[in-house]
Amino acid sequence: MSADENRRREGRPATKKPAAPGGVPPRQQFGRPAPIRGRDSDDRRGGRRSRPEASDSVSSGQGKRLWKPSTMLAPTPVVLVSCGGRAEQPENIITVAWTGTVCSDPPMLSISIRPDRFSHGIITATREFVVNIPTQDLAKATDLCGMKSGRDTDKFALTGLSRTAGESVAAPLLVECPLNLECKVRKTVKLGSHDMFVAEIVAVHVSPALLDRRGKLCLEQAKLLAYAHREYYSLGKRIGFFGFSAKRPGAARRR
Ligand SMILES: Cc1cc2nc3c(=O)[nH]c(=O)nc-3n(C[C@H](O)[C@H](O)[C@H](O)COP(=O)(O)O)c2cc1C
Repeated sequence: MSADENRRREGRPATKKPAAPGGVPPRQQFGRPAPIRGRDSDDRRGGRRSRPEASDSVSSGQGKRLWKPSTMLAPTPVVLVSCGGRAEQPENIITVAWTGTVCSDPPMLSISIRPDRFSHGIITATREFVVNIPTQDLAKATDLCGMKSGRDTDKFALTGLSRTAGESVAAPLLVECPLNLECKVRKTVKLGSHDMFVAEIVAVHVSPALLDRRGKLCLEQAKLLAYAHREYYSLGKRIGFFGFSAKRPGAARRR
């Protein structure tokens, strides 16, 4: 075994850095955003993707592997965003994993969409959309809406998903999803590969099947989907609740 191999096994950097693909030294390569298409988990057009666990990783010196910067936050929600129905824009559905709550008051969320997606133009024109939260049963439809473009496919016909009118936006709600969040775009931020639409949630629709007799939302019954590292998961069993670690008196009762 070489001295460098020994050092690597012990988690210490090699004396001379190994050549990286393309001849770029690893440290330098890590120091800049990865411009390579197809690296993102949401990009299906890059052909066979180079996964970050490719063999060009080096030791972080912490007993872990040091990988290139990548979109490794997991799990994320995966949602069906419906849009269109106003300003001569067709109704469409796009699957989005780069989404999250960004403000409580006013309630706001963001979705990040590549400019070349059909839905990007629709949302830019109408400045509104609906975030529909899918269940396990809708995993296939969710994937399909992320594989086909509304430019050449009617995704309502393709998936069998049905639509209904919202309260405050012209974009349709997806009936089969138990939660629908109507959103109005407040800001568009150009980030790089994606534009982030920061939007206010202006109405929330909840399936009555998820409400108990007292009107409490029982989301555990929804069998929600999660997305991690290019794979879909169903949410597992509840293992705690907000504040359970503090064991505040009455915390359990308040739920
Ligand atoms: C699980 C999954 C997550 C995705 N997340 C995103 C995303 O966050 N942003 C994005 O721009 N595209 C994302 N995509 C890709 C788009 O959904 C896909 O390109 C879709 O065909 C675009 O549809 P459209 O052209 O009708 O707008 C995702 C695809 C899948 C399967």
